[in-house]
Amino acid sequence: MQNQARSISTNQIGIHPNLEKVVTRHLNSTSQKPFSEHTQSAFSQSMEWLDNWQGQFILDSCCGVGESTANIARNHPDAKIIGIDKSAVRTDKHQSYAENLDNYIIVRADLNDFLRLLVLEKIKLDKHYLLYPNPYPKSAHLQRRWYATSALTDILKLGGKLEVRSNWQLYIQEFSEALKLANIKNQVNEYTSEPAITPFERKYWLSGQKSWQLLADLD
Ligand SMILES: C[S@@+](CC[C@H](N)C(=O)[O-])C[C@H]1O[C@@H](n2cnc3c(N)ncnc32)[C@H](O)[C@@H]1O
Repeated sequence: MQNQARSISTNQIGIHPNLEKVVTRHLNSTSQKPFSEHTQSAFSQSMEWLDNWQGQFILDSCCGVGESTANIARNHPDAKIIGIDKSAVRTDKHQSYAENLDNYIIVRADLNDFLRLLVLEKIKLDKHYLLYPNPYPKSAHLQRRWYATSALTDILKLGGKLEVRSNWQLYIQEFSEALKLANIKNQVNEYTSEPAITPFERKYWLSGQKSWQLLADLD
C-alpha cells in the first residue's frame, strides 16, 4: 500500500560509539576532494539567479521533488530560496509541486560540493532546512549521515537557523550531539504540524510514524 512507509530498522542501539571520534575528525579537517563538473555548473547558474542578492537567503538541502522548497518560498516572500537535490528523477518531478513564484529555484547538484562552493563564495544563510535526509540506519553507515561527514563544517560555516527533521529519533539525537561537539546549542523535540510540507513527511505521518526536529542557531 502506498501509505505504508517503512519505519526505521536499525542494528544500532543508542548513540553510535564512534560518533564523537568521527565528528571531531571532520571538525578539524577540510575536504580536498575535487568538485564535480555538474555541480560546479549548477552552482554558477545558481549564482547568476541570485544575482548578488543581499536579502534573506534560504537553502532547502536534499529537497527531493522540491515541494518543501515551494512551501518555504510561499511562506518567505521576501527571501530567495534554493532547493538542492542530487536526483534528477526527483528534481524533474518538481513541475507537479511547483508554485507560481519567482523567489525560488530547484537545482540538481551534489550537496557536499554545493555547500563547499557556497562557503568559498563566503555566502551566508538565513535559514537552512534539511528535511528527512537519508537516515542510513545501519551502524556501519554512520559516516554517510550528514553530521558525520565533512559537510558538517560547511553547514556550520554557512550559518543561519538550521532545521532538521527526521522520522528516526536517533538521527536527530546524533545530529544534536554532533552540534554539541562543535559547541552549538540546539533544541530537539517531536515535530507535529499540519499540513505536511514534503512527500516523505506526508508518507511517514500517514503510516503513523512520528517526526523529530532539531533547531539550532548557527550564528
Ligand atoms: C528521503 S529523501 C527526502 C526528500 C525530501 N526532503 C522529502 O522530505 O520529501 C532524501 C533526499 O536526499 C537526496 N540526497 C541524498 N544525498 C544527496 C547529496 N549528496 N546531494 C544532494 N541530494 C542528496 C536524495 O536524492 C533524496 O531526494
